[in-house]
Amino acid sequence: MNYAEAESLLKKCGQQQVLAHWPKLGKKDRESLLAQIATLDPKSLARCKKALAEGAVPPDSSKGVAPKVASLKGKALKDAVAAGEAELRAGRVAALLVAGGQGSRLGYEGPKGCYPIGPITDAPLFYFHARKILARSIRYGKPIPFYVMTSEANYDQTVACFKDNGYFGLKASDVFFFKQGMWPGMTKDGKIILDKPGHVFMSPDGHGGLLAALKKSGALADMKKRGIKSVFFFQVDNPLVEVADPAFIGYHVTQKSEYSLKLCAKRDPKEKVGIPMRFGKTYRMVEYTEMTDEQCNRKAKDGRLYFLYGSPAIHVFDRAFLEREASKDMPLHLAFKKIPFIDEKGAAVKPSEPNGYKFEKFIFDVLPNAKTAAFLAFDQKDEFSPVKNAEGSDSPASCKADMQAKWRRWMEECGIHADERVKVEIDPVYAVDAAALAQAGLRLG
Ligand code: UD1
Repeated sequence: MNYAEAESLLKKCGQQQVLAHWPKLGKKDRESLLAQIATLDPKSLARCKKALAEGAVPPDSSKGVAPKVASLKGKALKDAVAAGEAELRAGRVAALLVAGGQGSRLGYEGPKGCYPIGPITDAPLFYFHARKILARSIRYGKPIPFYVMTSEANYDQTVACFKDNGYFGLKASDVFFFKQGMWPGMTKDGKIILDKPGHVFMSPDGHGGLLAALKKSGALADMKKRGIKSVFFFQVDNPLVEVADPAFIGYHVTQKSEYSLKLCAKRDPKEKVGIPMRFGKTYRMVEYTEMTDEQCNRKAKDGRLYFLYGSPAIHVFDRAFLEREASKDMPLHLAFKKIPFIDEKGAAVKPSEPNGYKFEKFIFDVLPNAKTAAFLAFDQKDEFSPVKNAEGSDSPASCKADMQAKWRRWMEECGIHADERVKVEIDPVYAVDAAALAQAGLRLG
């Protein structure tokens, strides 16, 4: 793109201020600014402006009702596991990880997936995810291709972490890295913000950016070529997640669901998790911030919370559904933030109050578009312990304690009492569940 083309594009979008400091820019800055402008899409900019004009009013959730949530036991569980195992044996299952987040809330510089979480080994979060995928692909004799979405900022470090660790045992050809998109930040009146005289402030487009990125990167086409039917989606911060869990995949497939969600009972009425609700014939995820106090505390006849089940962001998607949704626009969510900017004189300003908007898309916004959806309950202590905060709940300390408690429960099932004072850690390839541990035999020490 040359200057004239950039000027004409910006004029069309009412964003000429992006070139305000052009005369003072050196050759390199001019080139990189033109390259950035070339990535701006007039249609997307118009959508951002429209979202700003409409404001961040959440849709009304007062008419939402709690969905029917299955809990598998006995024969139903056995049947689901058998159906899921058949899918895994046929090689029709992929794993999809959203790992665009940084570890900044943890005070950790770098991709969150590289954060050391192994209680003994300090192995990174990525290790536990990848080794579970490897364990299940060994068990079922077929690869489970692993698609990893990163942000622009953490792509190189993420790829390096996998390479330096020999892909944690996976075949490099079965791991597919791809980058999510970036959106420019805007002022309240829809003007693109520059954070340097020759640089537009851009931020990642949220985990919902996944759909566009899957399509653009060729990951969706790769899934199709490999004959994938079910895509197991999970977040990087939860090392307890049972990646490619046969029961969940089997339930998804037997329910002929397009989008299935694992849900767990909230630990307290105000827990910060999304709550799926039914509105007539469709479902929608209602974020905790959108719920009234009455909704959070409402009780069912049995005395339990009416909106009991929250989403830990563990989903199974039908690949064909992802493909259908990838060609549509997703809703934009606005986040009012402190965005560094350049004033009219070209001086850098670090605002002390929020001054601009970032735009994000959320993957669960495709839920209302699913022709069929299924909800499956599970026990939070077995599968959900995210690492979000530096201290307290959902911290590395609470997560490591939960990981060890789970392994100790497996050991108890094998007739071994593990003293609380002794640290435990089990490589998922050694044992991916209690039954596998019993079979492998315990090698403690
Ligand atoms: C999220 C969910 C919430 C859910 C909770 C479970 C949202 C808005 N809320 O909250 O419903 O109950 O997790 O833990 O998602 N990511 C990207 N790119 C981005 C932004 C995020 O890949 O641009 C990834 C992160 O790496 C992470 C995941 O998405 O794996 C979730 O992001 P995070 O910001 O941690 O979500 P929460 O607000 O904790």
